[in-house]
Amino acid sequence: MGYWIWLGRFMERCRLVYGNCCFIIPCSRYRERKWRNSQPSRVFSDLLARYGGVAPKMAEEAHSQVIDQVVQDTLDKAGLTEKELSAVAVTIGPGLSLCLRVGVQKARRVAGNFNLPIIGVHHMEAHALVARLIEKELQFPFLALLISGGHNLLVLAHDLGHYTQLGTTIDDAIGEAFDKTAKWLGLDMRKSGGPAVEQLAQEGDAESVRFSIPMKQHKDCNFSYAGLKTQVKLAIASRNIDAKVPLLCASSQDRSSRADIAASFQRVAVLHLEERCERAVEWALKIEPSIKQLVVSGGVASNQYVRARLDQVVKKYSLQLVCPPPNLCTDNGVMVAWTGIENFRVGRYDPPPPANDPEDFMYDLRPRWPLGEEYAEGRSEARSLRRARVHPSLTSLVQASLQQQ
Ligand code: KG4
Ligand code: ZN
Repeated sequence: MGYWIWLGRFMERCRLVYGNCCFIIPCSRYRERKWRNSQPSRVFSDLLARYGGVAPKMAEEAHSQVIDQVVQDTLDKAGLTEKELSAVAVTIGPGLSLCLRVGVQKARRVAGNFNLPIIGVHHMEAHALVARLIEKELQFPFLALLISGGHNLLVLAHDLGHYTQLGTTIDDAIGEAFDKTAKWLGLDMRKSGGPAVEQLAQEGDAESVRFSIPMKQHKDCNFSYAGLKTQVKLAIASRNIDAKVPLLCASSQDRSSRADIAASFQRVAVLHLEERCERAVEWALKIEPSIKQLVVSGGVASNQYVRARLDQVVKKYSLQLVCPPPNLCTDNGVMVAWTGIENFRVGRYDPPPPANDPEDFMYDLRPRWPLGEEYAEGRSEARSLRRARVHPSLTSLVQASLQQQ
């Protein structure tokens, strides 16, 4: 779930971030498929054979094997050398620590060797802030819904490094539900499950299967997709859909029954988002009456149905919906680069590290790292039980350092 990136000559022209100085390396267990497409398959199949499936250890090894090459390719494509870089930004959390470590080690090596400042980035802040790269009018405060394979987060962004968490998922994220639905429906997962479900849903009747909307009785902004996943699984089993039969080989009746499930699932998955967003807008307007936008980012924000439905929600409150273009919604280097720039501009960066870290160096990795404190009204029993080993939030760290200045 983390990416690490290079920052090029960003102080002169931020747009250069696009062309010059970002690259992408996948860091989460959700991303292996993408990675597999973009890397030599031999390396990947060797790893698969050795570990017998996708495992955190394999993700780490995959990262280690490609990181030098990815950095070099990116520099080559940009026509840059390390000497021309201004800083290095790297994701330090949240995410799989094995993968975060590979990125942080490399980032420190480059920053150390070329005497560059280094910026530790919060992956979710990067998802929210990338919207400011494309929407110059987007000022703090704003509301953000971050939806992808690993996260479902509603945050009120007061300022850079200052967030209130209005809601999060108590189990699975929406992207995970899209991915499993696609898998169980026997869809082509090459571009991940979400786009396949979205496409098939266009052929189906969204009212045909009666899935229930999650957490209706909880008047908060938290999410849950585990129950909906189970409902989908049961619906698929009761219609005798065989995931081993690819969609292209399905009879027309089978195809239409799969499409009905896809459409009905998508409708209810998004109704859950709509209901939570509506409440979040009301809360946000109470806390920060000047908000004007809802930013929707993360892989699932590429879904056109999601965008259209959320657009209806914000219109009721005369707010504007801001969705980064699909290639910036998914995990990418640009968002980390941009967040590095935002932090660098206000002086939030670390001085260049030493050229070589000692063998036993303790890297600052934050696998479980909230963006901000939970809004008191949104706190739920289910979540407060799961607070063990959570790093202090980005917001509390920034506030503490501002007080020291
Ligand atoms: O942000 P992202 O690239 O990675 C993380 O999970 O952090 O999001 C990937 C997720 C996957 O679950 C994928 O199925 C989902 O975003 N996704 C979509 C669509 N495109 C990607 N879900 C629904 N509709 C889409 N069009
Ligand atoms: Zn992400």
